Amino acid sequence: MTYSFPVRPRRLRVTKSIRSLVQENRLHPSDFVLPIFISDEEKQVEVPSMPGVVRWPVDQLSDQIKSYTDMGIRAFALFPKICAGSKNPHGSEILNPESLVYRAAKSVKKAHSESVLIADLALDPYTTHGQDGIVLENGYVSNDETVEVLAKASLLCAEAGFDWVAPSDMMDGRVGIIRKTLEQNSYHNVGIISYSAKFASAYYGPFRSAIDSSHGGKPIDKSSYQLNPANFEEAKRELCLDYQEGADMLMIKPAEPFLDVIKYANTNFDIPIAAYQVSGEYSRIMAADQLGWLDWKSCAIESLLGIKRAGARVIFSYFADKLAPIL
Ligand code: PBG
Repeated sequence: MTYSFPVRPRRLRVTKSIRSLVQENRLHPSDFVLPIFISDEEKQVEVPSMPGVVRWPVDQLSDQIKSYTDMGIRAFALFPKICAGSKNPHGSEILNPESLVYRAAKSVKKAHSESVLIADLALDPYTTHGQDGIVLENGYVSNDETVEVLAKASLLCAEAGFDWVAPSDMMDGRVGIIRKTLEQNSYHNVGIISYSAKFASAYYGPFRSAIDSSHGGKPIDKSSYQLNPANFEEAKRELCLDYQEGADMLMIKPAEPFLDVIKYANTNFDIPIAAYQVSGEYSRIMAADQLGWLDWKSCAIESLLGIKRAGARVIFSYFADKLAPIL
């Protein structure tokens, strides 16, 4: 029995070549920002909850960046694991110009001036309690005091050679103050990628153990500043404020659970939209692969294509260096 349907969408899927010709979205190494963990440890250390991810000592970082740029990856976000002795409740190590992340940026820029370096701007790597800001006596994370410190730290980032700062703290008003501080100090071309719609997510767990910001493994509640995953309207407001305050790029994080927010941002703002496929999104795929339940490569590509299709121009992903050679 055969019908003569005039419309047969499967005609576009008959052969591999036809499918490739009509493919609407493709991943490319230059889509990615690779997050890199760094530390003052003597050698590379595997992150147990993130198979295939290591923390790099600063003296190996430049060689490593070279191998990534050879794969076509251009942008890197550095995340320091600060040793316990340098942490305190105020996170004051972030204002030490000799601190790990500033030393790392200087050495990378010396060897690879063309690479795009992004500094995550928040206090959590530096505080003993693991919160992203300064905690008041009543337990509330102080907004304005935190913003003041982040603005000062943005100058250290710029001085160290970072091309972009990425405030990941979700304090009110920080993008405007950081922009103003950079302008007043003639860092006109240091850009701001704002973590605008950053949700209070359980998927940050592996990251917190990677940089040891998990306060001894106890759950940390960041919901007085990070967004409630149930809320879309509130995310719209945060995106809008960061845009008005002068962000050059707006980020949504995590990525896959919030594709609606990525889509909204891409439709409504005329600046590039970034999405962060976070540590837990990475680890759940790798864990299932290790159990023999899923194929990591196909799942990673499917997840990243979804994020790109939703409208993310720039994607932060721990898969970047694993996939770049095969894209
Ligand atoms: C710091 C920060 C976090 C992540 C990026 N920057 C953790 C947090 O907010 O607790 C998470 C990234 C990831 O899970 O890969 N504020």
